[in-house]
Amino acid sequence: MKHYLTTPIYYASGAPHLGHAYTTILADTYKRFWALCGDEVRLVSGTDEHGQKIERTAAAAGVPVTDFVADRSKEFARLWHELGLDIDRFERTTSKLHRGVALAIWRRLVSAGDIYRGNYEGLYCVECEQYFTEGDTCPVHRRALEFSAEPAWFFRLSRYQQALLDYIERHPDFISPRVRANEVLSFLRENALRDLAVSRASTSWGIPVPGDSSSVLYVWIDALASYLSALLEEDTTDLDAPSVQAWWQNTRHFIGKDILTFHAIYWPALLWSAGLPLPRQIVVNGWLTVEGKKISKSDPATIVDPRTLLPLVGRDGLRLYFLRAVTLGQDVDFSRQRLIELVNSDLANNLGNLHARFATLAIRHFGGRLHCTGPLETSDSELLAVVQAAANEVSDAFQTNAPATGARAFVLACSAVNTWFQQQAPWQQENQARRPVVLWVTSQALADLSVPGLVFVPELAGELRRRLGLPEAALWVDIGKRRETLLVHDGPPLYPRVRG
Ligand code: MSP
Repeated sequence: MKHYLTTPIYYASGAPHLGHAYTTILADTYKRFWALCGDEVRLVSGTDEHGQKIERTAAAAGVPVTDFVADRSKEFARLWHELGLDIDRFERTTSKLHRGVALAIWRRLVSAGDIYRGNYEGLYCVECEQYFTEGDTCPVHRRALEFSAEPAWFFRLSRYQQALLDYIERHPDFISPRVRANEVLSFLRENALRDLAVSRASTSWGIPVPGDSSSVLYVWIDALASYLSALLEEDTTDLDAPSVQAWWQNTRHFIGKDILTFHAIYWPALLWSAGLPLPRQIVVNGWLTVEGKKISKSDPATIVDPRTLLPLVGRDGLRLYFLRAVTLGQDVDFSRQRLIELVNSDLANNLGNLHARFATLAIRHFGGRLHCTGPLETSDSELLAVVQAAANEVSDAFQTNAPATGARAFVLACSAVNTWFQQQAPWQQENQARRPVVLWVTSQALADLSVPGLVFVPELAGELRRRLGLPEAALWVDIGKRRETLLVHDGPPLYPRVRG
């Protein structure tokens, strides 16, 4: 099976922050899960580089806009690399390929009779790059909306209102979590959709509208098209290309709740108009906040640079924090203290400590060679069953978009092994006879835990596998497979305690 996973393409107007990192890490976690299931997965990210906001920000910085976006884009790509995220393709909206793909979509909208010329008059938030029909302040950025009046090309969004309602009602999993689907449904039931202005005349920083040199594509049309560009190669902008056919239908868009309307209303309508299938699912995360305020580059006091956290808790620590502390879809107030407490309790004291005690005994008493020497006691088999059940729970959690439930199951299984190990006390002289079996059972439990570990804490789990002499590559179906003999290698603590 093929899975196509996308992150939003981030505005190249500022430096990446913890909020951007969260969505991208989340998507990467899913990638690792499906890959361990033996499926083919493609994860793409990128930068959204056109539009008035970016043009203004570059001008304010006194830098040519093309240089400005190139630098910002590199920063995002570099951060994904520093966070160890396994991105298959990083798409920039200023690329030649993308321009061709966005225009190919535009031409299809025109052919469908969905584009017409009109005049736009209304209020606009440059930060959101969005028109508002109510109020005079942007609800996201809490800034005064700007009045804008200009000739524009319109997309007949209103034509798709009923189709959208029907589709979302009939596909309850199209938008996850359900509360967000309900939000979109109520909006569609209570409001008549207005046609969407899909060009801008007040900026020239964008993709020119074919046949109209005074307008560029509205930045959101441009941006959404990037999800298709990332499936195509330089020499084709054919929207029916085999690569699109192969991947598109099983697409999952990972987004924040701030951009739900664009993905759940505009994008499906645009795709229908362009004669393309809809993605399979839109997975919507809540906001990371700092003292209750959304982390946002328009509010510098809220900015947390993920790079400052890496020397403290490492890539795995940050990832596990996001997966454990954040229930997908809900807002969470970021706290450095909570981050440190969580990694210390889940990684240093739990899995790390268990492994250290186990490895010391295995090396001291058996030179690291663990062999299954005798029959298992009931408590041994029960322990291995608990680990297996936890792995099943992790798998269910990903199928139902509840990664926090999966991460909790993983950590609880580590605790269960720890508690059992403590009860067995294989370090005591009086338990000498049971020692080889206890250590062997522990090695099997650790080997099993290393597989979901590759999803939640990939570096630590990779190292755990090396220390157990297991191959680097793993599959979900390996869980529960028993290895007669394992060779335990020595090394420093897997996750030392963090002092913050
Ligand atoms: N460029 C558009 C997206 C186009 S996608 C076709 C955009 N970019 S953005 O830079 O503003 O990033 C938006 C995404 O970053 C959010 O939807 C969300 O996924 C992530 N986040 C940005 N701030 C966030 C938080 N404070 N908390 C959680 N996620 C956040 O909108």
